[in-house]
Amino acid sequence: MTHTASKKHPEPVASAGSAVRQGTAPGPAAHPATHPRTPPAAGRVRRLPRRWRKAILTFHVTVAVGWVGIEIVQLLLGLIGLSTDDAGLVRATHVVMEILGIELIAVIAWTTLLTGLLLATATQCGLLKQYWIVTKLVVNIALMLNGHFFLQHWLRQQAEAGKATESLSLQLVISIGTALVMLVSATALSVYKPWGKTRRGRRPAPKSSCGPAHPPHGSSV
Ligand code: HEM
Repeated sequence: MTHTASKKHPEPVASAGSAVRQGTAPGPAAHPATHPRTPPAAGRVRRLPRRWRKAILTFHVTVAVGWVGIEIVQLLLGLIGLSTDDAGLVRATHVVMEILGIELIAVIAWTTLLTGLLLATATQCGLLKQYWIVTKLVVNIALMLNGHFFLQHWLRQQAEAGKATESLSLQLVISIGTALVMLVSATALSVYKPWGKTRRGRRPAPKSSCGPAHPPHGSSV
């Protein structure tokens, strides 16, 4: 009576089904009859369906790299403002820098942070499991604090003063240049995924799709 066995153990069938729906079932070997339950030691499975993960990743990368682009434009405008004597041109650069630096960057920074948090917490990556993710989180927050407490204030000052002082413009260019270096570093971290796992990430877990593409030399993984 094979059907009585399945009646006695209805749970495994349901959990395997949800794993398949989530795209986390490891294949035929995970058939409920042979692997009735994922052992707790195997850790939590990825919670975000694969197509959602890809869609959010696409959005995250678009917004994050867009942020890099805006900082490049800001830096160029700052340098133009510093190097020209044309008062009209200087004024125009200040107005555009203010719009980009106050209105747009805040939205972009928040969107990058929120999509990054979603990707990290709803997938195998984990928020505090890999050093490169923790570092990007710190970079993102540091850039937002710098933008909120310093950059926005200086940009307003620069836009209000018809002709900003050279030291204020220089201060802005240095600050924007530093932000750009930090953002490019965050992008490189996302691609190289260096430094391995944190202590929390070293706990037993299913094979992660979040680590470096090529494991370090000598590693059997
Ligand atoms: C500081 C600005 C940021 C930039 C420029 C940035 C850039 C990127 C890029 C280019 C990728 C694609 C990497 C790849 O698929 O090879 C990526 C993926 C990712 N990012 Fe960010 N990111 C930023 C902030 C964050 C933050 C704050 C978090 C989390 C707290 C985060 C978490 C992630 C995660 C989990 C992935 C997916 C990795 C994977 O699934 O392979 N990012 N990011």
